[in-house]
Amino acid sequence: MEALESPRLPLGRLVRLDGADAPDVAAHYRRLDAAARYCRFAGVVPDALLERLAAEATHPAHRCFGVVIDGVLRGVAECRLGSPVAGAPAEVALSIESAWQGQGLGGVLLGALIPEARVAGARSVHLSALAANAAMLRLARRYGMTLTRDGEIEAVLSLSPPEAVAVPVRAPAAKSMPAPAA
Ligand SMILES: CC(C)(COP(=O)(O)OP(=O)(O)OC[C@H]1O[C@@H](n2cnc3c(N)ncnc32)[C@H](O)[C@@H]1OP(=O)(O)O)[C@@H](O)C(=O)NCCC(=O)NCCS
Repeated sequence: MEALESPRLPLGRLVRLDGADAPDVAAHYRRLDAAARYCRFAGVVPDALLERLAAEATHPAHRCFGVVIDGVLRGVAECRLGSPVAGAPAEVALSIESAWQGQGLGGVLLGALIPEARVAGARSVHLSALAANAAMLRLARRYGMTLTRDGEIEAVLSLSPPEAVAVPVRAPAAKSMPAPAA
């Protein structure tokens, strides 16, 4: 777990998660109540599957952030990057445990994940949510995602390529010449 700066986080601390954190992510998934788990995975997911889903979320090919409150992971946002071909879409999904919902944590996690996907080469971010998931839809709209409705909501955000990074070219330092022998 690597702590990250997030001045907008209302409580807890923002962290980057990797494979070593998969057990914490699985424990977070297990703590989601039935409604939140259903919304997160768009269906009923048995406990036995959660370990595998946590391992996938924290796979090095993807990106995963979390919010830790009093030492416990209470929110997770994952971004599954598509094929390594530049421009592939990224699939984003979030979960906040019920007692911590509605306090701005989902917004901070999505706000951290979108630029991360862009820098990783994704040219769009996709998110699926149940049509009745008002909080997720508000969040998607806030980040400028285009929503299409077909039973579920599909939210899509196009990303521009990251700015080219200008590497300053520095002239080699002048070598001091040895003084000529007298
Ligand atoms: C959807 C979810 C990630 C949102 O995270 P959150 O921390 O609760 O949301 P925030 O506090 O950042 O609020 C997001 C927006 O939803 C609004 N909101 C929060 N709770 C709401 C509710 N119960 N009903 C309607 N709007 C709500 C907020 O006012 C905010 O709106 P704004 O952007 O216009 O200010 C969270 O509720 C969750 O984990 N739900 C279960 C899993 C899930 O649904 N995942 C999404 C599918 S992948």
